[in-house]
Amino acid sequence: MFLLLVILASFLIDCSRATGLEKFDHPIKVNGNLKFLVVGDWGRKGDYNQSAVALQMGKIGEELDIDFVVSTGDNFYTNGLTGEHDPNFLESFTNVYKAKSLQNQWYTVLGNHDYRGDVEAQLSPYLRKIDSRWICLRSFIINAEFAEIFMVDTTPFVKEYFVETKHTYDWRNVMPQKTYTENVLKDLENALSESRAKWKIVVGHHAIRSVGHHGDTNELVERLLPILRAYDVDLYINGHDHCLEHISDTESPIQFLTSGAGSKAWRGDVKGLNSEDVKFFYDGQGFMSVQLTPTHVEIEYYDVFGKAVHKWSRTKQLHHTVI
Ligand SMILES: *[C@@H]1O[C@H](CO)[C@@H](O)[C@H](O)[C@H]1NC(C)=O
Ligand SMILES: [Zn+2]
Repeated sequence: MFLLLVILASFLIDCSRATGLEKFDHPIKVNGNLKFLVVGDWGRKGDYNQSAVALQMGKIGEELDIDFVVSTGDNFYTNGLTGEHDPNFLESFTNVYKAKSLQNQWYTVLGNHDYRGDVEAQLSPYLRKIDSRWICLRSFIINAEFAEIFMVDTTPFVKEYFVETKHTYDWRNVMPQKTYTENVLKDLENALSESRAKWKIVVGHHAIRSVGHHGDTNELVERLLPILRAYDVDLYINGHDHCLEHISDTESPIQFLTSGAGSKAWRGDVKGLNSEDVKFFYDGQGFMSVQLTPTHVEIEYYDVFGKAVHKWSRTKQLHHTVI
């Protein structure tokens, strides 16, 4: 009897974890396409070409007729938001991304710079009242029928932030770090194992693979990458390095895509460019688009003038049902 209760209890705990990630349903348009833009590392009150990038996002967004925008984090420089009423929210978001095509939902993760401010402010439903586009949670899922996008809070994985003394971080609801990150991975793994989406896309702030200034994030290579490989994730999209990059995994079909060039860029710190798996690297400002149908994915990168600078696509056969 006792054993039965233990089994039942662990089953219930497992169940509560399976529903751990909030899911947003984003229905597909009648034409059957899903299109979105990805921008990262942007909130600088329009400076460092943020406004120029925003203008081009508006144009490309209009051309493609996008469904939404994904932000890869570091939303507000230099130290996130000071609180719900921080004018930086209007100055760096609402008043910058003014184009009509950008008046869709913005699905947003947090970056390390956001953790230097009041994190709860960025997560607060109050911001949604100021600007209804804003959806920012720590980890969550966008369910767009044949595509599922898993948004992952990567900052708490990076050990360095817990030991450095230069900056202070808002770790409320993250401590203890070990439990928090284990639960993030457990939730993600459960959600991925249950997903029946044709395309599985994971988004986080930190790169798994990058040849830019920050390089690979070892904690994610060790802990997140094995899960992405095990559950046939197609794309991993991130920001953090202020550049545009496309790197192919050497051991799986995963594509590593960096879109962290929403404002300050031109760091001039690049390594390993001639490696075969590095398909594209651009040091300057820009953004990325993702276009999906049930059988096709197309990635495109644009610079600050809206010029297409790199393109990649893949086709997947529809599964035949085996009876
Ligand atoms: C803005 O973009 C232009 C064109 O790429 C570049 O020459 C200029 O340096 C950029 N400005 C900043 C502050 O990065
Ligand atoms: Zn960052």
